Amino acid sequence: MIHLTDTEFHNLVDYIHQNFGIDLSKKRLLIEARMYSVLAKKNVSSFSEYFSLIQNDPVELNVMLNKLTTNHTYFMREASHFQFLKDVILPKEQECNRQKNLRIWSAGCSTGEEAYTAIMLMKEFFGAASGWDYRMLATDISTHVLESARAGVYPAESLKDLPPAWVARYFRKSGKMYLLSDEVKREVIFRRLNLMEPFPFHHPFDLIFCRNVMIYFDQETKNRLIAKFYEILKPGGYLFIGHSETIQRDAAAFHYIQPSVYQKGY
Ligand SMILES: C[S@@+](CC[C@H](N)C(=O)[O-])C[C@H]1O[C@@H](n2cnc3c(N)ncnc32)[C@H](O)[C@@H]1O
Repeated sequence: MIHLTDTEFHNLVDYIHQNFGIDLSKKRLLIEARMYSVLAKKNVSSFSEYFSLIQNDPVELNVMLNKLTTNHTYFMREASHFQFLKDVILPKEQECNRQKNLRIWSAGCSTGEEAYTAIMLMKEFFGAASGWDYRMLATDISTHVLESARAGVYPAESLKDLPPAWVARYFRKSGKMYLLSDEVKREVIFRRLNLMEPFPFHHPFDLIFCRNVMIYFDQETKNRLIAKFYEILKPGGYLFIGHSETIQRDAAAFHYIQPSVYQKGY
């Protein structure tokens, strides 16, 4: 078994923190447990050797990120956000948005359940021939979860909070798994994006989900990211964060609407 020395542990934690915002300083056991098999496969004799390898090899860096990110999620997670979308945001858009278009971003989308839940909700709300153009961009640092999101194949456990009528309408059962319909999948564009890097967008968003992603970031990284979200939202646009997360007052000029829901002023 390859031993992770204190210096190697600190170097790795610093590197991941500086480049991806993720704080693994209390995750030594997780690093050890998830990385041993990777090191064994690469035939390296120490973490230092592996560490020099990833710095020159984007593919291997990717393998490591796929291993070290925490990706648990499910459909209709933190349902009050979807209720708010249905009861507040969509009726207002229906009344005031003459262009009938909506741009939404699921930042830190993991395996896609958040983005797909919002799409199903909009399909239910607007109906089939509504003329509404809603675009959903879903991004994550891990290519592994993005592949799984594009495939759209889920275990029953992941669907347990969805209305049964939606499951019947938008999924097909195959063995123990549920296959999401193309009608929903084609509404979401999945891309790899590191939230620590400058955003590559030319147009602002109406709504951003960034839920249960910043919990792994330190306060300064969080504040910087929140300021970037503020910039890229339309006036009146909303930011949803995870229920256990908060935004510091001086991070950006967001209006607090209700727990974990923030709005940019007009
Ligand atoms: C727990 S999942 C959250 C999924 C979903 N938003 C939810 O609330 O259920 C956190 C995701 O954030 C992603 N992530 C972590 N750091 C990131 C970064 N710097 N850039 C982009 N995504 C990141 C992880 O890969 C992971 O898939």
